[in-house]
Amino acid sequence: MEHTETTFSMPRIGDKAPSFTAVTTQGEINFPSQFEGRWVILFSHPADFTPVCTTEFITFASQEEKFKQANCDLVGLSIDGLYSHIAWLRTIHEKIEYRGMKNVEVKFPLIEDITMEIAKKYGMIQPGEATTKAVRAVFFIDPKGIIRAIIYYPLSLGRNFDELYRVVVALQAADAFGVATPADWRPGDDVIVSPAGSCGAAQGRMEDKTLDCKDWFFCTKKLPKEMVLEKILKK
Ligand code: BEZ
Repeated sequence: MEHTETTFSMPRIGDKAPSFTAVTTQGEINFPSQFEGRWVILFSHPADFTPVCTTEFITFASQEEKFKQANCDLVGLSIDGLYSHIAWLRTIHEKIEYRGMKNVEVKFPLIEDITMEIAKKYGMIQPGEATTKAVRAVFFIDPKGIIRAIIYYPLSLGRNFDELYRVVVALQAADAFGVATPADWRPGDDVIVSPAGSCGAAQGRMEDKTLDCKDWFFCTKKLPKEMVLEKILKK
């Protein structure tokens, strides 16, 4: 089926996060200004009282402290009203156990977006997937309010929260140490040194004993795990 008649904006990596005020389960928020100085993950889920979303909320809420220690706050959103959110979060807390996690209290704000205003601003409605539900979108927003990474999942696929944490840590490590991170990078793994910008620099790279160069354009260096964690978890 074609969905050309409705176009919603899609913020991009490098854009300023679209601003809004919203009613949430933790009171009103001003986004992203209220989170200035901290990283924030803004994520959407399709609907309250649905099973995949329930497993996601239990998992994310159980890891909230770990994200907070990495200077990262969590903010959820769905196209549901506040009272639905409250009822669902109470049910999760009181009744639902998932993979040994139980009595889980969701302490981060969950936005009510019954008008879809915010979901549309963030390209969370993808009509080919659903017209009345947000897909599972994840926006990683830096302390200056800039979108640094975006991940989208369809309705049927629950997210991997270890990966979301890995993204937060890798983005912070790249900023702090001026490096890039290779496939499947985790703290303690070697990092990528930015490519040489001249023939002389390329030769210098190959001769630099502190680097491990597979070729002139592909050099890595050690970045000890403690240095990464000290930088990211020290706030
Ligand atoms: C779920 O969270 O279980 C779900 C939500 C919307 C569509 C399909 C599954």
